Amino acid sequence: MSPSNPPPQALGQAPLEPAIEAQLAALVASNPGQGSIEEYRAIWSVIAARCPCDLLVFGVGRDSALWLAANAGGRTVFIEHEAEWIAETRRRLPTATIAAVRYTTRARWWRWYLLRPARLWLRDLPPEVAERRWQVIFVDSPQGYRPSTPGRMMSIFSAARLAAPGADVLVHDTDRTIERRYGDRFFGEENLIGAARTLRCYRIPQAR
Ligand SMILES: C[S@@+](CC[C@H](N)C(=O)[O-])C[C@H]1O[C@@H](n2cnc3c(N)ncnc32)[C@H](O)[C@@H]1O
Repeated sequence: MSPSNPPPQALGQAPLEPAIEAQLAALVASNPGQGSIEEYRAIWSVIAARCPCDLLVFGVGRDSALWLAANAGGRTVFIEHEAEWIAETRRRLPTATIAAVRYTTRARWWRWYLLRPARLWLRDLPPEVAERRWQVIFVDSPQGYRPSTPGRMMSIFSAARLAAPGADVLVHDTDRTIERRYGDRFFGEENLIGAARTLRCYRIPQAR
């Protein structure tokens, strides 16, 4: 643990205000196989604590409207690789800013990439994303549930480069090896400040 960080805490246990709880419960009910109520509470709370902030979200989905609302008045950019999900999100949320990217990895090669991290930078990020340092980053994309899916090596490595000093970085699905190993390697195991089920939160040191 970094000297400046408290011990990791259990996040997302306490209910939020009723209007937000109702939105989170509706999302969980309509979005099977994605986040749990504890995880969505934790993400909401981390974003809302910094709002208005520069928020970068890897992955769109039925949760996207919530993160825009949690960061009302701030700058929120989504990074997405699936054309259908980009189109669907633009239809539902016409004002959302979405940057299209391509992931060139396969989850099965995660060990190989761990030794060659320079290959993991997402080169097609637009300058307005690549040249900014982000205060909150949420990594929930691309898919990594099978060896033939891209895996989150590029999104996690790129998030580590894009994080501002003092940023909070959330990583979902850390019950999986890639998310855990890459998260600890690139954000620093010692910087883990909290978790909710399979969601981890790292706080990037002020000086690195
Ligand atoms: C783990 S999903 C992101 C889920 C989203 N953060 C949520 O909680 O609703 C990762 C990728 O799968 C696609 N996707 C988004 N929502 C999905 C859903 N409900 N079911 C299947 N795939 C989804 C998108 O391409 C997204 O980048």
